[in-house]
Amino acid sequence: MEKLIIRGGRQLKGSIKVGGSKNAALPILIAAILLDGPVRFRNVPRLRDINTTNKLLAILGCPADFTAHEADMTGNAAEADKIGNAGHSDEVLACVGKLTPEAPYDLVKTMRASVLVLGPLLARLGLAKVALPGGCAIGARPVDLHLKALERMGAQFELDSGYIIGRCKKLHGADIDFDFPTVGGTENLLMAASLADGVTTLRNAACEPEVSDLANFLNACGARISGIGTDTLRIEGVSALKGTGYSIMPDRIEAGTFMVAAAITGGDLLLENCPTEALSKVISKLEEMGVGFEQQGRNLRVSAGQRCRSCDVSTRPYPGFPTDMQAQLMALMSVSEGSSTVEENIFENRFMHVPELTRMGADIHLSGSKAVVRGVKGLTGAPVMASDLRASASLVLAGLVAKGETHVQRIYHLDRGYEQIEHKLGGVGADIERARDES
Ligand code: UD1
Repeated sequence: MEKLIIRGGRQLKGSIKVGGSKNAALPILIAAILLDGPVRFRNVPRLRDINTTNKLLAILGCPADFTAHEADMTGNAAEADKIGNAGHSDEVLACVGKLTPEAPYDLVKTMRASVLVLGPLLARLGLAKVALPGGCAIGARPVDLHLKALERMGAQFELDSGYIIGRCKKLHGADIDFDFPTVGGTENLLMAASLADGVTTLRNAACEPEVSDLANFLNACGARISGIGTDTLRIEGVSALKGTGYSIMPDRIEAGTFMVAAAITGGDLLLENCPTEALSKVISKLEEMGVGFEQQGRNLRVSAGQRCRSCDVSTRPYPGFPTDMQAQLMALMSVSEGSSTVEENIFENRFMHVPELTRMGADIHLSGSKAVVRGVKGLTGAPVMASDLRASASLVLAGLVAKGETHVQRIYHLDRGYEQIEHKLGGVGADIERARDES
């Protein structure tokens, strides 16, 4: 296993390029199952979850992989090696072949988003066999809303030996009102409805920017989706979708994490290709805490002079404050002036960073879904670990400001969602390295 060693206390200064969005890329790559013909995705982040998705797609009969550099693609691998780019493109090429309906447990257990193949497989094959994702570190995370909605389109489900088996003749349009604006559920249904007979309306749909990115991609392939960006999506089914080229949106959670990195170190960062609009709630909270922002074309400058002030945050579906930024903001609150509160409304049990931040000297009290964070003057480095992605990011942020060495263990969680975080943070002045973890 590997860990990150961070020696805190350095102000971060310089530019960081925001990568492609993991949460947009996962469903968009999976949507390749729906297409007739090849598709080329650009701005795909090189992450563990993307490799898992590529493997899953290959198993289902839709081989997908990062393309090598141009020179490599023309057969000149030596040339590609020479310029150091072999295998490092941000492009994924996928091409549907003969599809098979089974997503095996070995892959699904490592990535919950695998359940997004359900809608596309039902639409294409009328049969889907997907391992049940099971519990997860940030709560039970059921998929009942996905199944209920697909049933309204004509699918039938049974549970057999840990697998959800779905069957249908041909999916038909339906009027679906989600009990909760589920992100994955909305994405599954968008994909299923795009190839269904007739019109589907999704009400109380998730409005997250990643959902809109998927809808825009599907439309670029010939789907007929309207209401994009609102909570009511109308999908007129079409008989076929064609492949195209598509660039994935930048990752708002990665960008938000770097904003907190600037704030917590009193630094000054230029975030290149920043999805500013998608981060408006995060930005307004950080402004309330004393962080400065300046839009410069497609880039956003984030600067923090003095110690931040406290604030109160409540996580909500988009456009509310994202649950995926809660842990990172709490790291900042723990060294800010005054007392802050956090209310987590999306996932139960999403406070796994709290005991670890406490070990670094933070003063945090939990009561159910609420946390009170009393800002302390400083944190001290410690060996820490977390069992989810964003909790791990919050420990890295805490490490950037802590006195001494912080060892963030089990960084395979971080590698699921942050591309080369040590290179990006190291490039703007952080003292951070990846090392083998013998413990
Ligand atoms: C997606 C994101 C995740 C983010 C979350 C909320 C991806 C790959 N993951 O997760 O990073 O934190 O949105 O913004 O894009 N629920 C049910 N039944 C269902 C579906 C969901 O009860 O069938 C509940 C969940 O347990 C959770 C809430 O609804 O409490 C939100 O889940 P959902 O919006 O579906 O999140 P994901 O798509 O899993």
